[in-house]
Amino acid sequence: MSQQPSASDAPQPEFAGGEPRLVGRTRHAELTLDEIADLQPGLGRLMPDVSERYWILYYAAKGGNWKLAQYCVNQIRGLFRVGATTRPNMRRYLEAFGQGHLRAIEAALAQRDFAAFEIAYRKGIDAANAMHAATNHPEVIWQLPPEPPRHLYLGPVDAEQGSTPTP
Ligand code: HEM
Repeated sequence: MSQQPSASDAPQPEFAGGEPRLVGRTRHAELTLDEIADLQPGLGRLMPDVSERYWILYYAAKGGNWKLAQYCVNQIRGLFRVGATTRPNMRRYLEAFGQGHLRAIEAALAQRDFAAFEIAYRKGIDAANAMHAATNHPEVIWQLPPEPPRHLYLGPVDAEQGSTPTP
């Protein structure tokens, strides 16, 4: 006995209500553009990455791996850009942090001045926690972990030779 096609098997119209019906297809699902947009990360998903980079940043600067420290700042800026896009109501805070605290940190990194870096870095912690409070998250109080990360080499790297130093 042959099966009758059901209504859901029928090809979907390319236009629904005059609007193009944009979908993405995976092996598992067909997602509308709105569903895909809704999956983009907000601050709750971005902040753990910001936190990790900010932690590594400190110990990279302290150890003298200045390029790694700068790389962390670049990554934080990138995460902030995503956050400002997906959560426009947070944009002004994220931009203020980037233009103030991250810039001051970068200036100290460029000078390889750890004392100036540490001042800017700790001001950044205070500002981040003030912004957490201002954005209805007074319970989020970030603190610098006392331990350096163990998965990355934190000492000076001889960029000229491109060699990997032995820890
Ligand atoms: C480098 C500085 C910052 C660090 C290290 C940091 C760290 C964190 C951490 C660890 C969390 C908790 C994430 C979790 O485990 O769920 C968090 C949450 C949050 N942070 Fe930050 N943060 C920083 C800067 C900022 C700035 C500048 C803003 C400005 C808007 C901000 C806004 C938020 C918000 C709104 C949440 C709550 C997210 C949610 O669950 O909806 N943070 N942050």
